[in-house]
Amino acid sequence: MDSIAALVLAAGKGTRMKSDTVKVLHPLAGKPLLSFPLEAARAAGAERIVVVVGHQADGVRRCFSGRDGIDFALQEKQHGTGHAVACAAPLLGGFQGTVLILCGDVPLVRVETLQRMLAVHRESGAAVTVLTAVVDNPRGYGRIVKDGTGRVTGIVEDKDATEEQRAVREINSGIYCVDGPFLFQAVAGLSRDNAQGEYYLTDIVRAAAGQGRFTAACPVEEAVDVMGINDRVHLAQAEAVLRGRINAAHMRDGVTIRDPGTAYIDAGTVIGRDTCIHPNVHISGGTEIGERCVIEPSAVIRGCRIGDGVIVKAGSVLEDSIIHDGVSIGPMAHLRPGTELMEKVKIGNFVETKKITMGRGSKASHLTYLGDATIGSDVNIGCGTITCNYDGVSKHRTVIEDDVFVGSDVQFIAPVTVGRNSLVAAGSTVTRDVPPDSLAIARSQQVNKEGWRLKKK
Ligand code: UD1
Ligand code: CA
Repeated sequence: MDSIAALVLAAGKGTRMKSDTVKVLHPLAGKPLLSFPLEAARAAGAERIVVVVGHQADGVRRCFSGRDGIDFALQEKQHGTGHAVACAAPLLGGFQGTVLILCGDVPLVRVETLQRMLAVHRESGAAVTVLTAVVDNPRGYGRIVKDGTGRVTGIVEDKDATEEQRAVREINSGIYCVDGPFLFQAVAGLSRDNAQGEYYLTDIVRAAAGQGRFTAACPVEEAVDVMGINDRVHLAQAEAVLRGRINAAHMRDGVTIRDPGTAYIDAGTVIGRDTCIHPNVHISGGTEIGERCVIEPSAVIRGCRIGDGVIVKAGSVLEDSIIHDGVSIGPMAHLRPGTELMEKVKIGNFVETKKITMGRGSKASHLTYLGDATIGSDVNIGCGTITCNYDGVSKHRTVIEDDVFVGSDVQFIAPVTVGRNSLVAAGSTVTRDVPPDSLAIARSQQVNKEGWRLKKK
């Protein structure tokens, strides 16, 4: 098998997105558009990947630098897809294998499709193999022109097509396999004598014919796989398709999704078997969820690592946190970044946490703020407890050791440490460290004035 290099065209601005962000960096199921063709190319066997960048080139580079085997070619002015390929000649010009050309704005193409196209290309001996689709509404796409024997003789752009050509429903996906040496020689000879005054990559089909070589067409099974994203309507349509694929894959792997139409699970999420996802759940940011978990309605989970047998009750928001096995969270709890909950912790309703660790079996069941705290195991945090971590200038830590019982409505004025097995009385404002095995009471004495009410009347 000869070697494969991928060339991904991503220099265009994406005017129809009407955005300050270049099109290929718009997110689709949590990842920038461009990452989809890049990953597909890699999975199809591309050893090298060259991305042609132009608009917001630095931003695109920054987003994808650090990934192995990706190089960037700059197309300063966008004179068309043929010109974009020519801009990669300094990097790929000497490449002797097959160049797999993809568009940065065609994200739904599947690896299997690319592999099938590569096989067609190899077996047919074509100079160019075009991935095509038969669509109901071909407007805007290049049309595949064939001769009487069914051979591809050219690709004609919508704006250059005759009435007869416009009626053709087989369109160019913008994805190709091309013999490397032929490609760079052909794009060097393109002209911009067409309706848009651009160098069309599609003209290499005619160039091949001129050299007695031929072009093969490889139709996709589902046209949606090669839909191009030109505006935000397309972006939403593509996201719906992608979400459907992601959810189907999870369900096939043993995850229950009660209402797949309202399960917003980003690409790259891992979910274990027998976990149940209820309606209107949002999971993103590379979250991993273990087995036998229950994620109740309207939970939002971002960038978390969740163990097995965890229950996240309705309306909870979890961000960049680590949750160990058997933990119960919510309803309506908010775990902010840097929270780590050990086995069997219970976080109840209206509890907010930030940068804390909570040891095995500890509980904060109601109405509490725990920030910048280290909490041991088997600790009970009473209702209404607050770690006062911020003095207006800097943040301070609260340490609560194992087996401490904190009554309701306690404030910890950090920095402060409560030694193990102590009890903090309800209503206390704790300003000094508490030694182990102690009772801390820090509240004003109660005064009862007997008969007071009777005298008032
Ligand atoms: C192109 C094809 C058309 C095909 C369609 C599929 C040509 C001439 N036409 O049309 O046959 O049906 O894709 O979606 O190739 N780009 C650059 N530099 C440029 C111009 C474009 O990098 O100078 C990139 C864009 O960023 C984009 C891709 O190439 O990722 C396609 O460009 P676009 O302008 O969207 O081409 P279409 O008009 O859609
Ligand atoms: Ca396009």
